[in-house]
Amino acid sequence: MGSKPEQLRAWWKEGSVYQVYPASFQDSTGSGVGDLKGIISRVDYLKDLGVDIVWLSPIFKSPQHDMGYDISDYRVIDPPYGDITDVDVLRDALHARGMKLVLDLVMNHTSDEHEWFKESRKSKDNPYRDWYIWKPPRYDEQGNRCPPNNWQSHFQGSAWEYDETTDEYYLRLFCREQPDLNWENPAVRKAAHDVMRFWLDRGADGFRIDVINFISKDQSFPDSKQTVLRGTEHYACGPRLHEYLKELGAILKEYDAFSVGEMPCVHDEKELVRAVAADRGELSMIFHFELMDIDHGVNGKFSPGKWTLSTLKSKVNKWQRFMYDNNGWNALYLENHDQPRAVSRFVHDHPEHRVASAKLIAVFLAFQAGTPFIYQGQEIGMTNVPVEWDMDEYKDVDCLNHWGLFKDSADEATKAQLRMEYQKKSRDNARTPMQWDDSPQAGFTTGSAPWMRVNDNYKQINAASQVKDPESVYHTYRRALEKRKEHKDIFVYGDFELVDEANDRVFAYKRVAGNGDAALIVCNFSTDEVAWSSGVKAREVLVSSAGKKVDDVNGGEMRLGPCEAIALLL
Ligand code: GLC
Repeated sequence: MGSKPEQLRAWWKEGSVYQVYPASFQDSTGSGVGDLKGIISRVDYLKDLGVDIVWLSPIFKSPQHDMGYDISDYRVIDPPYGDITDVDVLRDALHARGMKLVLDLVMNHTSDEHEWFKESRKSKDNPYRDWYIWKPPRYDEQGNRCPPNNWQSHFQGSAWEYDETTDEYYLRLFCREQPDLNWENPAVRKAAHDVMRFWLDRGADGFRIDVINFISKDQSFPDSKQTVLRGTEHYACGPRLHEYLKELGAILKEYDAFSVGEMPCVHDEKELVRAVAADRGELSMIFHFELMDIDHGVNGKFSPGKWTLSTLKSKVNKWQRFMYDNNGWNALYLENHDQPRAVSRFVHDHPEHRVASAKLIAVFLAFQAGTPFIYQGQEIGMTNVPVEWDMDEYKDVDCLNHWGLFKDSADEATKAQLRMEYQKKSRDNARTPMQWDDSPQAGFTTGSAPWMRVNDNYKQINAASQVKDPESVYHTYRRALEKRKEHKDIFVYGDFELVDEANDRVFAYKRVAGNGDAALIVCNFSTDEVAWSSGVKAREVLVSSAGKKVDDVNGGEMRLGPCEAIALLL
């Protein structure tokens, strides 16, 4: 064990990230949709929380079939969000407070309304034809037209869309309105580089890069042998991925910019380390999906899956060690706009344990090795949508496409089961408006019709009441982020070690700096009261979700209440 060598220090390792989902953060006009001026009005709230980097989910021009992950112009802001001068104002507001602005770069695909695609679909000899992935149909024995191969879309059905104009299919790994770009074409890569430079020159400090490991596809486009999500083995971390990432990395390096690549469906973990190892010149960090897939069943996300604390431990431990041992870097996240709320998923959201559970998530996450990512509302312990909500409150294309496969044909028991899984895992859970206060619509909008219904629990869970209460979930996050920075040799650059690995209720880990300074984090994931023997002597309680003092933990054994968490300096 030892701390990282000095030359591997970086600003983005020491900071923490806050993800804003613009549509649901703060509406400044009463339209019911959040906007950039709304975000600007909350910059001080973010500064006070202690986050350093603000990542905006896509704000670019888009027909919004997939909430802006379908971009029709990379240099224009979608009008409901504001315009480019608002981005400049937000950038300046952040920079003036020593904070950074990170944008979402979605370049595996565009919208079908992007000019490039409009041209591409016109004719086989259009100069933009080769910007996307077009293939002729296959025909079965009866002469029926079939897609070029059996790959499936991440949002249900075939990954190929037939286009009558030229009697060919185009590849779209997500919605039919999201055609995949052809990165084999150097002009496409140049266009991606130009978009990056455009925003970096305008003062963006880096990018979150959408499904970046999908950009290189096996050019023989073979049929998949998988049963679930057919095709990923032929394009997740495909043959030329690292060549393309190195091109992006060179530009990022010129600007000392930050990057986090989203990398789902990885078949060989070494690919992740290759993308982030310090000497490779590719990305700063990546999002892996091992914790996000923990409750997926045999038929994918919307089938029931069980997990245990020991599975969570082994997954966390693996990635903490993996990155440390391979000179990589972790992006630490338990929530984002595609995932359910962490308090509902990993701990307990029923009223009795909700607050303790949300504080546990804060302590558990913030002291691990890596850069912590906090998704809007996580810092106040927002929960999944209520079980009572009807399907017409759900808005997400992924969830609704799935429901569309069953709603008219499945039996009642199957539908009830699916509804349970949607309430647990639908992306809608993360997308309800931010709960600012206890006024109507939770202070998210002055209008009466938010684009998505506000979670009914906003009177109990909102930022205004928590900012006032020093014992709140919000202040637990604030303190944890502050302590992480104060002891950065331990928490940013130190090593990680699981403690009491066999314990099936308590997740404990140690962080150790190169000079031997150390900290111990103990989280009781169960709803039982637990006696835990630490055998250590604490110098200071860094964060305690239950107001513990040093004397409460130094008697050889500490008592932890349900879902209690504590971080100690040893
Ligand atoms: C990523 C985004 C998700 C989007 C998908 C297609 O997974 O996070 O929201 O639907 O890519 O762009």
